[in-house]
Amino acid sequence: MKRIISPSLLSADFSNLIEDIKIVEAVGVDRLHLDVMDGHFVPNLTFGPFIIEHIRKSTKCHLETHLMIDNPSKYIKDYAKAGSDTIIIHYEASSDIRSDLNKIKDEGVLCGLAIKPETSYKILEEHLDVLDYILVMSVSPGFGGQGFIIETLDKMNSINKMCIQNNCRDKIKIGVDGGVNLKTIKSVYDTGIDITIVGSALYGASDVKERYYDLINENG
Ligand code: DX5
Ligand code: ZN
Repeated sequence: MKRIISPSLLSADFSNLIEDIKIVEAVGVDRLHLDVMDGHFVPNLTFGPFIIEHIRKSTKCHLETHLMIDNPSKYIKDYAKAGSDTIIIHYEASSDIRSDLNKIKDEGVLCGLAIKPETSYKILEEHLDVLDYILVMSVSPGFGGQGFIIETLDKMNSINKMCIQNNCRDKIKIGVDGGVNLKTIKSVYDTGIDITIVGSALYGASDVKERYYDLINENG
């Protein structure tokens, strides 16, 4: 299974953000994960559309915007306009999942649905026809640098199987977000998922390029 890593900029150096983007682009990264937090849905506050507009101007990478915000419906247009290529809402934050996913698609942006570790994967089934991306949280959303929740591996397996059984596995990308590092990455890819989001295990390394190659190495 070819490994695709989407670095989470939450762990990047925001005083040197464009440089930190160029470092990962230089090793072949073509996808970036942007963690938007509102201080309500999660007890942390990060950045909004304004920052994403600047990131958009600085990179050709696919920007996957992870909205950890209450009432995402109100802001979909803003994050689409800012330059997101995929917008991911949380099942636990939306009052009308189907309407919000369609709202994302109406903006010409790929739509994703994220579920917290405690949320059953079964809630995804009725939305498989419209989904482009499923994001499986392997930590409780809100902070980088947390420990990987090992019980979420079963959920990744189940989601992979559910997409195969519903003949939509090729249409939907499955991502895993939180606590992915050199110790956990192999077991995550062994579940059949497509993309890992890596923040602190990548940007926290003294040599980011070397760490990227260690993470992407399929024998690792
Ligand atoms: C957590 C975010 C994750 C996080 C990943 O709420 O959604 O994307 O930044 O960071 P690490 O890889 O350090 O767990
Ligand atoms: Zn995230």
